[in-house]
Amino acid sequence: MTILAGVIGDPIGHSRSPRLHGHWLRRYGIDGQYVPLHVRPADLEATLRLLPRIGFAGINVTLPHKEAVFALADTVTDRARSVEAANTLSFRDGGIHADNTDGIGFIASLRQGAPGWPADRPAVVLGAGGAARGIVAALLDAGVPHVRIANRTAARAEALAARFPAAEAIAWDATPAALADCGLLVNTTSLGMAGQPPLEIALDDLAPEAVVTDIVYAPLVTDLLARAAARGNPTVDGLGMLLHQAAPGFAAWFGATPEVDDALRRAVLG
Ligand code: ATR
Repeated sequence: MTILAGVIGDPIGHSRSPRLHGHWLRRYGIDGQYVPLHVRPADLEATLRLLPRIGFAGINVTLPHKEAVFALADTVTDRARSVEAANTLSFRDGGIHADNTDGIGFIASLRQGAPGWPADRPAVVLGAGGAARGIVAALLDAGVPHVRIANRTAARAEALAARFPAAEAIAWDATPAALADCGLLVNTTSLGMAGQPPLEIALDDLAPEAVVTDIVYAPLVTDLLARAAARGNPTVDGLGMLLHQAAPGFAAWFGATPEVDDALRRAVLG
């Protein structure tokens, strides 16, 4: 029987997940379909009840539903609970099981793209939205000793930092100086995305071995990554996180542990 899975969001047309899972389905010769589903917030709960009854093994969840599906789930993983949001649902034993793979996707991408990443030094995270929440939790889980969070709206950085003993909010203007002893700089804001202003932060104090990464992947090489690469810092683009966060869902629904490689990158970039 064909295994069904998909991604729900509002809007959903921009999602690269169907192409990503489609590549893996073909590569591993699996009889499965992965479909984009435009689901509005008012239809969310009814959709979650219907999908398992019509043969769906699970779904990915994107904006704006990540918090709402967490609240509707029957069981949740620790890493979903730590950020109170889910991006991967499995329908099993008559219930909804919720996971959040954004954080481990981010770390897996970092380890693949920058194997020498100095994880024993502080990290600086720009932004304090949903993406930042998962990334701060994952960095601390991965052993980073201290995370500095800078955000345009200071109160949001303070609220995020208050969730973790080893995190601290810093003023947006204090970011350049805070880079001096750090091993990693992460942009989780929308600055640098196509159609948005560039991220104009001075990198002069960054150590040469510090890794710079961006969760923006359109464009693939953001202004931040280009400036970091020009001064010799290792960089990791945002596509890797998208690819790695997808792997646990694929394995759970379709029964094969997929590989994140250049062929997948090419397939997703089209
Ligand atoms: P997500 O859940 O994807 O992280 P979000 O919650 O909308 O999305 O967060 C977007 C982040 O980009 C926020 O940190 C936001 O800063 P504010 O909290 O001050 O809104 C940041 N951001 C968006 N536009 C920005 C800009 N022009 N300058 C600086 N930060 C910006």
